[in-house]
Amino acid sequence: MSTDLNTATFRTAVVREPSGPDSIEIIDVPVVEPGPGEVRVRVAATAVNPVDLGVAGGFFHSMGLIDQPEHTGLGWEFAGTVAATGPGVDLLFGARVAGLVAGFDRDFGTYAEQLVVPAADIALVPDRLDLTVASTVPLNGLTAAQILDLIGDAPAPSGGSRLLVTGAAGAVGGYLAVLAQDRGWQLTGLARAEDEEFVRGLGADFATQAEPRWDAVADAAVLQEKGLALVADGGIFVGVRPGAAPPAERGITSQAVEVHPDGARLGELLTRTASGELPARVHAVLPLDQVADAHRAVAKGGVRGRYVLTP
Ligand SMILES: NC(=O)c1ccc[n+]([C@@H]2O[C@H](COP(=O)([O-])OP(=O)(O)OC[C@H]3O[C@@H](n4cnc5c(N)ncnc54)[C@H](OP(=O)(O)O)[C@@H]3O)[C@@H](O)[C@H]2O)c1
Repeated sequence: MSTDLNTATFRTAVVREPSGPDSIEIIDVPVVEPGPGEVRVRVAATAVNPVDLGVAGGFFHSMGLIDQPEHTGLGWEFAGTVAATGPGVDLLFGARVAGLVAGFDRDFGTYAEQLVVPAADIALVPDRLDLTVASTVPLNGLTAAQILDLIGDAPAPSGGSRLLVTGAAGAVGGYLAVLAQDRGWQLTGLARAEDEEFVRGLGADFATQAEPRWDAVADAAVLQEKGLALVADGGIFVGVRPGAAPPAERGITSQAVEVHPDGARLGELLTRTASGELPARVHAVLPLDQVADAHRAVAKGGVRGRYVLTP
């Protein structure tokens, strides 16, 4: 094990009584050394996502998905450098990495100066990819890839299998639009009128209103029942509310994704981001101290690209 650390604590953003941006606190917590198979990362960048607003606002506490006695950690994705490694980990001190920390019910998050994670959950960041951009890939890139695992390959890959992606101008939707084409789907992105250029730039057709009878719908805009109504009889619906897929009807398969870490797949997504194949969108970079401002700005809606915090 190696370490560069002289201080015994680090700063992290948490909520104790979640009630929105004003309830976010930055506290000092003890440094934890990595165990077998783990890595301690010095976080350089961590992205603000809609799920973080739900945690800070108490939405997931009220659903019974979070039950932390003292505080709940914020943040799901990060990029940084390796600060220490546990036994059995073959990563160099200072290596540039990115990763996902999934699950709602935890006292730590990626909005932090440091983080201990399983080495299997992270991936090396290509040299030509900035850590700020890299921090925006893990959560939504993996979510899109795992939605497509649920949907599967186009039944008629030579053309004609039609997939509608709702919220195609968002983070999950943008990745879906590109990755679905790898699997043979003929893709249409449902998005706001002002997002037409972005969606078409991903190689997708574009719509602001969708007619029914799609072979599959990937519902990144959380339309839920309205999204399911757009699926043809016997088709496929995949939503983004874990455990809350709309009830199936008309022979439709209705599921919801629950993203999980996958270091190997993340490595592929980071490589494709570095090459420009996948969208890379950072709206603004703010210091961790301004986390509440970032949450307020995202809550207003209409932001394209991520707010990224630098601890
Ligand atoms: N289950 C999981 O494991 C998992 C993982 C990651 C994300 N998620 C969830 O997936 C959802 C999408 O995340 P994201 O990061 O992609 O969010 P995002 O970047 O905010 O994108 C959502 C997009 O949908 C658009 N939209 C909303 N309603 C629409 C409508 N009726 N018609 C057209 N476009 C519409 C939004 O436009 P406006 O901004 O103009 O409203 C925005 O462009 C979130 O609810 C997130 O929590 C779930």
